[in-house]
This record gives sequence, C-alpha cells and structure tokens, in this order.
Amino acid sequence: MDRDAAKKAAAEAAVHFVEDGMCLGLGSGSTTAYALEFLGRRIQDDGLDVRGVPTSFATERRARTHGIPLTSLDDDPTLDLALDGADEVDDALQLIKGGGGAHSREKVVAYQAERFVVVVDPTKDVDRLGAQFPVPVEVLPMAAAPVMQTLEDIGATPTLRAAAAKDGPVITDQGLWILDAQFPDGIPDPVALNRHLNDRPGVLDHGLFLNLATDVLVGHPDGSTTHRTGP
Ligand code: A5P
Repeated sequence: MDRDAAKKAAAEAAVHFVEDGMCLGLGSGSTTAYALEFLGRRIQDDGLDVRGVPTSFATERRARTHGIPLTSLDDDPTLDLALDGADEVDDALQLIKGGGGAHSREKVVAYQAERFVVVVDPTKDVDRLGAQFPVPVEVLPMAAAPVMQTLEDIGATPTLRAAAAKDGPVITDQGLWILDAQFPDGIPDPVALNRHLNDRPGVLDHGLFLNLATDVLVGHPDGSTTHRTGP
C-alpha cells in the first residue's frame, strides 16, 4: 500500500474543514506534516486568515516553514478545530497517539478544541485498541521504575523508549521520558486504563485519547477518503 498517498489524501481532506478566521490546533507526526503543507498553500494562494497552536517543537518549525501564523493557549485558549494524526483508531473514534512522543501536548490542544479531526491511513484502523501499538506513557524520570512496575502489574510489558541517534532515552519536549506499554492482546478495558494512568503520580499524560475525536478521516492510496464522525 502507498501509505504516503493515503496520508496525503486524509490531510488534504482535513484542510477543507478549515475556515477563514479559525484558531487551530496543529498536531504532530508525518500525516499532520502533510496537512501543514496543504494549509500553508491555502494561506498563500487563497489568503486564508488562520492561526495555530503547535503541539511540538517539530510542528512549530514546520508551521513557520509553511507560513502558518502561530499563537498559544495563553492568547487563544479556545480552538475552533484541531488537526492531528493517530497511531490507532477504533470504530468508536477512540485513539492511541504518541508514536512521536508529542501526546501530552496533543491532548491538551485537542481538549481545548471544539472539533478534533484525526487524519490516518488505513493501517491505523483497528478492532481493538493496543493490539498492534503500545500505549506511550510520559513519565518523570524518577518515577519511571515504579510506573513500569505498575504497568507490569496490570498485564503490560513496558519499555523505556530509546533515542535512535543517541545512547539513552528519548527526552520529550517537556524534558521527560516515555514508557511504551505493550498489551499482549490489546487493552482489555481502555476506560479503566485511562482512569488508572490519569491517577498515577509521576505520569504526565499518556497516549489513550478517549472521547476526544469528533471526526476521523481515513485516506486511501487512490486519493479518496472515508469520513467517520463521533456520536
Ligand atoms: C505524535 O506524538 C503522534 O501522536 C502522532 O500524531 C501519531 O504518532 C501519528 O503519526 P504519523 O502521522 O506519523 O503516523
């Protein structure tokens, strides 16, 4: 499958949701990167007047490259629309995010948005969350060992995410670490896991995004998209 073509199709369709004057949440990852490119073109070609809150340093830099004006939640605490990718999406529009380690900021931004549009290629569609992708958990370094123990106690296999180009852990934009919690047959009860991780001291946030997405756009290699909306 030509995943890049599918990502582009979803990203281009999502940018059609953007209207003049909107304040946007700008997600992270490779699919959102295409959306930023399409958005930059609409700003340049159609004179679209929008501003966006970036969810990572990488997105901030990409937005600047594409001429997208930036703002912050200090100045614009309510967003009209957030655009972002995902690592897994189920039929109920529940997500796993955080493959790029930006999920904590992404969740803050999605929460502030009236509409949260998720763009994915078909490989992200799953019957059961967690069956193929681990749940990323952003932790304070001094809490990593006890949180790993907790994750093992509830049936997951956690690993400390290691940096590819450096000897040591990935350091997030907040200066924290990420544990990837793999569940052998998927997450048995995502609502319970969400509550558990939200209550765990030492966890900043995690990649389960429950009841946040309002729209999912699945792009296909032939350039078409499938649009699913939430309840
Ligand atoms: C960033 O931390 C993630 O939440 C991404 O949004 C997610 O991993 C999807 O990324 P891709 O669009 O690159 O698959």
